[in-house]
Amino acid sequence: MISQKTIQEIRDTAKIEDVVGDYVTLKKRGVNLLGLCPFHNEKTPSFTVSPAKNIYKCFGCGESGGAINFIMEHEGMTYPQALRHLATKYNIEIDETKPSAEAIQERQTMDSLYLINERAQQFFAKQLFETESGKNIGLSYFKERGFNEDTIKKFGLGYAPTGFKTFTNKAAKEGYKLDLLQKAGVTSQKGFDFFRDRMMFVIHNLTGKVIGFGGRTLSKDKKSPKYINTAESEIYVKNKSLYGIYFAKTAIRRADECILVEGYTDVISLHQSGIENVVASSGTSLTVGQIGMIKRYTPNIKILYDGDPAGIKAAMRGLDMVLEQDMNVKVVLLPTGEDPDSYLKQLGADAFKEYISQNANDFILFKTNLLLEEAEGDPVKKAGLIKDIVQSVSKVRDPIKRSVYIKECAVRMDISEQILITEINKIIHRDLRKREQQTAAQQASDEAPPPHTAADAPPENTAAIGEAPPQKSRELTDEFQEKDIVRLIVEFGDRILEGEITVAAYVLASIEDVMEEFDDKLCGQIVAEAYKVIREAQTISSQYFTNHQNPDIVKLAISLTHLPHEYSSNWEDKLQHPMQTQGMPDENYVNDVKEGVKRFKFKKVCRLCEKHKEQLKNASPDDLLQLLKIQQKLNEMRETLGEELGTVGVIK
Ligand code: UTP
Ligand code: MN
Repeated sequence: MISQKTIQEIRDTAKIEDVVGDYVTLKKRGVNLLGLCPFHNEKTPSFTVSPAKNIYKCFGCGESGGAINFIMEHEGMTYPQALRHLATKYNIEIDETKPSAEAIQERQTMDSLYLINERAQQFFAKQLFETESGKNIGLSYFKERGFNEDTIKKFGLGYAPTGFKTFTNKAAKEGYKLDLLQKAGVTSQKGFDFFRDRMMFVIHNLTGKVIGFGGRTLSKDKKSPKYINTAESEIYVKNKSLYGIYFAKTAIRRADECILVEGYTDVISLHQSGIENVVASSGTSLTVGQIGMIKRYTPNIKILYDGDPAGIKAAMRGLDMVLEQDMNVKVVLLPTGEDPDSYLKQLGADAFKEYISQNANDFILFKTNLLLEEAEGDPVKKAGLIKDIVQSVSKVRDPIKRSVYIKECAVRMDISEQILITEINKIIHRDLRKREQQTAAQQASDEAPPPHTAADAPPENTAAIGEAPPQKSRELTDEFQEKDIVRLIVEFGDRILEGEITVAAYVLASIEDVMEEFDDKLCGQIVAEAYKVIREAQTISSQYFTNHQNPDIVKLAISLTHLPHEYSSNWEDKLQHPMQTQGMPDENYVNDVKEGVKRFKFKKVCRLCEKHKEQLKNASPDDLLQLLKIQQKLNEMRETLGEELGTVGVIK
């Protein structure tokens, strides 16, 4: 593990403008720098870099972070990988702390699995290009499919020979252990090569490491499946892998759209003809994990499916889940009997591109039309269809989008909007109740504060259409004060408040007694971590948060950080000097900090008073005296804080 000291050094050394400058041309604009966002396609620059805050933020797509996060996002690296990358760039020597024996073991196994997969890939590729059977069977097959040599090499295609143990024996001789070969899935439990006489497709992870294979047979034998795929392992988790994602990620970001196909060959074919933002789910329906991978790059998915009934059904399956993830889904239906690969060959690249952009249907409307056709003249079927559509629409999170769908679907199905609204509201309420019950059950079981992470939070659509948003529950009402505490620590943490006391030290010492009381999990986590760091290292800077390993912390930290004011470059030219003399609003932080802490404490003390009142009601005579004393103390604190804030009597 990279030591905290090294991480700190990297955070302090890495200049956001250098790091971003390696990839983006930046122009000075007032106190900030401006460039074209590398994460989405734009013609006018909205990607802003603040050297003062050492962060970047795109006002177009919302991407934001510090230097480490930029490298992670841009290069698809993990946190440690990004740290190593930056350490190399800045010649920082990496100091490693000793990991646990278990962690070492796990790491070693994973490393071995990566090595074996890479070795196997080399082996299959060499077979393809250098052996007679490889050339005659494998290479000629790929060439027949229209793949040129560059493509074959880029995707690492190969050929697995017919022998029973050709690879396994070779690998064993080279020192690879049998149990690891089996774990990696290249050798069967009985010790034979898992892939024999098959055309080999390579599955990569996000960073381009080989994690598994798909092997296609040419045999017409019904008993052997057309494709066999590597079994899951520590490094190959199917529902978190997408075929082609490594080659597609940059293009997906640029096009702000991900094209989803079914097959390995579809991905490669489209890629070869210049459509690079394409991945395959490899014959299964999309999983939440896979959607998560795509969502890192774009909220827009276009699904290309074969025009046979099975293809259409496949297109429908699991798509409500994609809507729930707040993605925009379009469906393109190919003519019967065609798959993306074959249809592309038939039309040529340009016409194919034209076809998919002309025939992209909004998923919900597409589903509506399709089901309508099916239900034609059958009232029972039509009733079922309404339920089905309503189910999908209820999953759309954005209330505005949802109401547009309702309008459109009502017209198409020829029923009143109000009926749809009522039905949809029913589902939303039911989902909401279900979620509340789950939360309550969880709370009861672990007594932890309710989870408020992005994935767990009640979605914004909890307000059904035509109703006021539901009253926020008691647990949520301190959110503002909690965020404010985090903001003070993030923005001013290492500034001096008075004497030698930093803002972070002051804030944390002041709220120490109510530190357990955070409702918002993330805020609580940030504060607890800051507390630990302050006690060990004395100081904590905003860099600690804007370059944090946890992307949720980075995002929250940046959303709470003000970018320094931007001045129009015209002004700067006219005045011939940079306008940096004007005081920034954040110079009033001393007052800000003291007030923020008081407001937070007041909230929490009020809350504790209430809690205690409850306890008093049920207290046994033995505890009563002790509890009364505490209650008195709490009341005093509340009075004092209230007086200072000028809110006595407002909240009881
Ligand atoms: P297809 O049968 O459409 O395969 O299955 P394809 O890739 O287009 O292959 P060609 O064009 O016939 O050569 C789509 C995907 O489903 C998975 C594979 O990932 C395949 O790419 N699949 C299919 C399997 O895993 N096993 C099978 O037996 C068949
Ligand atoms: Mn095919």
